[in-house]
Parts: sequence; C-alpha cells; structure tokens
Amino acid sequence: MQVKLLLTAILASLSVIDASSILLVFALPGKSHAILGDGFLRWLLAAGHQVTYITPFPKNSMHPNLTVVDVSRNLELFHENLINIKAIFEKKVDMDSMDNLFHLMTNVGNRTFTNDNVQKIVMDSSQKFDAVIVEWLFWEVASGLSAVFDCPLIWFSTVEPHWMVTKLIDENLNPAYNPDFKTGNIPPFTFTQRVQELWKQIYRSVYLDLFFVPKEEELYQAVFGPAVAIRGKSLPSFHDVRFNASLMLGNSHVSLGQATRLPQSYKPIGGYHIDPDVKPLPEDLKKIFDNEKHGIIYFSMGSNLKSKDLPEKLKKDLLKMFGTLKYTVLWKFEEILPDLPRNVHIIKWAPQPSILAHPKTILFVTHGGLLSTTETIHFGVPIIGIPVFADQFNNVDRAVNKGFAKRVDLSYTIADDLKAAIVEITSNPRYAAKVKELSLIYHDRPVSPGKELVHWVEHVIKTKGAPHLRSPALYVPWYQKMYLDLAALILAGLIAIKIVLKRLFCSKTSITSEKKYN
Ligand SMILES: *[C@@H]1O[C@H](CO)[C@@H](O)[C@H](O)[C@H]1NC(C)=O
Repeated sequence: MQVKLLLTAILASLSVIDASSILLVFALPGKSHAILGDGFLRWLLAAGHQVTYITPFPKNSMHPNLTVVDVSRNLELFHENLINIKAIFEKKVDMDSMDNLFHLMTNVGNRTFTNDNVQKIVMDSSQKFDAVIVEWLFWEVASGLSAVFDCPLIWFSTVEPHWMVTKLIDENLNPAYNPDFKTGNIPPFTFTQRVQELWKQIYRSVYLDLFFVPKEEELYQAVFGPAVAIRGKSLPSFHDVRFNASLMLGNSHVSLGQATRLPQSYKPIGGYHIDPDVKPLPEDLKKIFDNEKHGIIYFSMGSNLKSKDLPEKLKKDLLKMFGTLKYTVLWKFEEILPDLPRNVHIIKWAPQPSILAHPKTILFVTHGGLLSTTETIHFGVPIIGIPVFADQFNNVDRAVNKGFAKRVDLSYTIADDLKAAIVEITSNPRYAAKVKELSLIYHDRPVSPGKELVHWVEHVIKTKGAPHLRSPALYVPWYQKMYLDLAALILAGLIAIKIVLKRLFCSKTSITSEKKYN
C-alpha cells in the first residue's frame, strides 16, 4: 500500500515537472472559433499542462490547471446585423470587402490586448509562460506576447493554408497554383484566374504594408512597450517579432483541402476539435433513428441563420417539400413550426457528432462552416451546402469540387432547388462513395490530430523554440529569391560587353578606313 502511494507521489511529481504553462489566445467572438479554442484547451489540459485561456466566452470551469481571462467585451463588436439574412437574400452585402474585414479584425485585436483582464497578466512581471498559442486572424500584434514573456510563439491558422499566414513562417505561396483565402478559385487555374491570384497577392501585400502593419505596430509599441520595460528589457522591433514564430498549427488536412507544399514549421491538425468519443444519441432521437427505414436527412444552418430571419413563406415551402420525401428530416431550428409533416422533426438542440456518426444519416444539409465540412469528412456523410457568410462559400465550392456535395443558394426558390439536390445526392451513389473515400484518407494518419497538437506544442517547448524547424526563406529578401540581383548583374555585364565591343569595332573601322585612305 505504502509503495503504491509512494509510486503515485513520484509519478505525480514527474508529471508536474513535465507540465508547462501555456497562454492560449482565441480572441474572435465567434462560436466556431471558440470551439476550436476549446479543442486546444481540452487536449492541453488532458496532457497535464497549465493553461491560461484568453476567450470571449468564459465558462465557469473548475479545472485546477485552468485560468480564464475574460474578453467578452469583444462581443460588442459583433452586433446582430453583421450577418443580415435579408440583405443576403437580396444580394446586397459585399462579402468580399477586405477593408471591412481588416477594420473589424484590427478592432478585435485592439480590444483584446488593451482589455484590463489581459493587461493584468501582461503587466504582471511575475507571470511566466513556456509558450504562447494565438489564433491568427490578422492580429500579428499578438506576437508581442512572446517578447513580453520571453517564450516561443505558436500561430494557429483557422482555414486552409494561404499566403498571408505562410509568409509569417516561410514565404508567400505561389499564386500560380495556390488560391488566396477569399477568391475560391480551385487549381489548375485558367490564365485569368492566375492573373487574378497574382494581382490579389500584390495588391493585398501593398495594402497591408501601407495601411495595416503601421496600425499594428503602433498598438504593439503601446501595449507591449510598458510590459517589456517593467521586466527591465527593451522591446524588439515589430518586424523581428512578427516573423519569429516557432510553429504554425493549421486547421487543415489534405483530405479537406489540397496538397499544398508547406514548410517544416507548419503542422496540419485539422479535425482535432472533434471529440474521438462519440456520445450515444439521447432517447428521443434514438427512437426516431430506430424506427427509420429509408434514412435520415439532418438539416442545420449553424448558429448564424436565425429562424426569425427566414421569410414565413419559405418556412412553409420547406416543410411542404420535406413532407414529400420518403426520408425522415431532422431540422435543427429554434422555433417550433405548425403543421409539421409526419416525417419532419424539429429539434432545438442537436448532438451533431452523434447524428452524423449514425449509419442511418444519409445526408447533411449545412451552411458549410469549416467545422461542419470537417465533421462531414470525419464521419463520412455527403452534404448539401447552403453558404451564408464568409468562408462558407469557398468551403462549399471545395466540397462540390471534391465530389461529395451540391451547392444550393439562399433564395426565394430554395425549396425547389433543395429538393432537386436531395434527389440527386440520394439517388446517385457517387457522392456517398466519394465522402467515404475522403474519410478514409482523413483518418489514415500515424497519430490522431489531437495527439499531434500536443506533441508539437511540447516539442517547441522542449527544444526552446524549435529553431531547427525555422525556414531559411525568412532570411532571404524577395529580389534574391527571384535572382533579380543576378539578372541585374548579367544585364550590367551584357551592357558592358556591348560598350566594349562597340568601342573596339568603332576603332577598328576607323583604323581600316584610315588605311583605305592612305
Ligand atoms: C525569436 O524566438 C526565439 C525562440 O523562441 C527566441 O529565442 C528569440 O529571442 C526570439 N527573437 C526575437 C527577436 O523575439
């Protein structure tokens, strides 16, 4: 008995030695971003680490290793009308405005790092961290945290790798075959697309450098200057810190996106947010599934699309259309509708993973958020995507391109369009076959993405910033990468030779002509 106690004590003390203190920053006040942040939290706590979690959705968790830093003030920036369904119906919103996006993200960054709760830890010189993990959403100012706490920085990139993030740890991706995160082009590009991609990179780089980086730098000085000063150090230049991350963990995987060529310091961990233990269905849902013979269609538009925004006629049309199907439809909706057809069930809350994991679920009708498309591949269910906002258009188009999805647009004829898509997917087996094939690729990894997450975070801490993973491309200016200096040298050489030849030739001709006249 005593030996056993002693052993546990030794083991416990060992794990204490191994435990690190990690600062986790997920500042964007969006549900899906919080799910991604919570995923990190779950894995890091399970691995025995101490986590200080900066989040706009603080929960009352009593975990002894967790400290929550409340930035719920960020929520004020995302007022209701940001995603205005009516405006989308009438195609009045400019979803592609880069200016709006930068502006919003600068504001979120600003609010986060000047927040009193964040300032409290930043200005506390006794506060120590072994690593900082930040979800990148333009706020590169966050890299200052690594200067303050003198510890390695790990970026988390939310979407498929794109040039704006790879340039922080390596270099821009080649626009000839890598799409910008908003264009939605899928390689191989046409000539026009290739030019468009090049233009976007050049234009946005200049735009960012001229209007965005100076603002970030100002904030960097204001927020982190005093914090570094009280620790008796001086603040390194923003440029040096911005490009000094040790690692980037990406919410991506080849099964979900494309086989992008990536640096050693980028590790794809797409799917880590999905809990490997799927809970059994609750009793009421289980009964519905047990009684179903033809299959279940699960319809959920996520948290963006509120039922009150949907026109009444449309809800009626949808119900009527669902009523004509032989399948059972589970509609996640926050309002109970009258005159429900026999085969339609409205559920206010849905255990999405448990529903998708069930073999009787034959189709998922979704808004196409990144997490939902990841979950469909994880569980191998084909989708109909109805994109509403932001990256959802690209996610759905990519799924259509991969061959396991149909896209239906939000419009007043949606019931008919949706019916046609449902008929196509349920009658043509190629959609289900494709998603099963991708699911196999997705799961066929040496370790699960969650374990990989923990491994690489610990690797960075153990190796004091993993300098061996650092890309040499970071030290080479762009004109040297394109050998423009060599081109200039060759050009100068050619010009010099031409001048010399001209001199020689001219003097020769003058000599010969002199001879002639003699
Ligand atoms: C860059 O990161 C490494 C590893 O974390 C650290 O040792 C170094 O001081 C950092 N440099 C700057 C300028 O922040």
